Amino acid sequence: MQTEHDIPEKGPAGIHPDDSVPVRRIVSGIQPSGRLHLGNYMGALKNWIDLQTRYEAFFFIADWHALTTNYEDTTPIRENIIEMLVDWLSLGLDPEKCTIFLQSDVLEHAELNLLLSMVTPVSWLERNPSYKDQQTQIAGRDLSTFGFLGYPVLMSADILLYRADHVPVGLDQLPHLELAREIARRLRHFYGPVVPEPLPLLTPTPRLLGLDGRKMSKSYKNCIYVADSSPEVWEKIRPMVTDPARVRRTDPGNPEKCPVFNLHQSFSPPDVIKEVDKGCRTAGIGCIDCKKVLVGHIETILQPAREKRQELSARKGYLKEVLAEGAAKASVEARQTIRDVRRAMRLPDGSLFE
Ligand code: TRP
Repeated sequence: MQTEHDIPEKGPAGIHPDDSVPVRRIVSGIQPSGRLHLGNYMGALKNWIDLQTRYEAFFFIADWHALTTNYEDTTPIRENIIEMLVDWLSLGLDPEKCTIFLQSDVLEHAELNLLLSMVTPVSWLERNPSYKDQQTQIAGRDLSTFGFLGYPVLMSADILLYRADHVPVGLDQLPHLELAREIARRLRHFYGPVVPEPLPLLTPTPRLLGLDGRKMSKSYKNCIYVADSSPEVWEKIRPMVTDPARVRRTDPGNPEKCPVFNLHQSFSPPDVIKEVDKGCRTAGIGCIDCKKVLVGHIETILQPAREKRQELSARKGYLKEVLAEGAAKASVEARQTIRDVRRAMRLPDGSLFE
């Protein structure tokens, strides 16, 4: 699949510096399925914060998507939405620079989902690899629902609704994005050009390991959360397994076999990475020293976010306002697309009897 890495800088008026290339638009979302961990931060949010000044950006909390797998007990979703918003804002996503909103506040997502579902063959959905994966991985939940099968149609609606040029996502989301492109082409085939085909903007992140050396993931309970306190972060990192062959302080270690080093590679500056690599291989530093250095660099990101989080948590009115303003801005674009799609599909509108 074609991807796009050559990004123009956004000029002062939201226009490319040479003034002839309009700023391109991106859209992306995250499900409010729990608090943000460092893997989510590295895999999505850090990138979004960087992109918000270079693109016209729409970021949303995908609460309807959360229902596809959590439809039985929906109680945590409300709380998770607030947590997620606070996580985003405290880390530096800025409502002055991008549009931040809640999916279910913009009903056009549902209308476009319905219209797209009419032209989407079920076979396209059944062959989606994450559909099959999740069916087997999420045990103990009945995922043989219409909504779960239609997950990528709703995601396509999220993207096409904003006529996005690019979608910043991780590798795991590429099959979904391919489907959004196929649906855009199918619309064009039946009704003429309506919405552009979005391109992925792959997030350049190495896979972040968790406390036990497996991929950092909420379901493995091996996460460091963005909202963890300073002592919590240390209490998680201190007992982490390192290179199993490095038994004594005097044994040289192999950083490639060490999940602590994996975290250094994402959070420490290049000279520190080089230093701990050498220190480990020569037994120049011990594992505890190495972990202390790592915590210091993680804290440079988390400490300012913690202060902001505390301040934001007390400002419920402001949070409400951020989502309300975001939904208003998103709705303008969403309504325009719905008008265009309805017209292209020759659906009844105000002019039916004219
Ligand atoms: N599927 C994405 C995830 O699990 C969330 C999502 C929903 C999304 N709609 C989207 C991402 C639209 C990008 C664009 O992380």
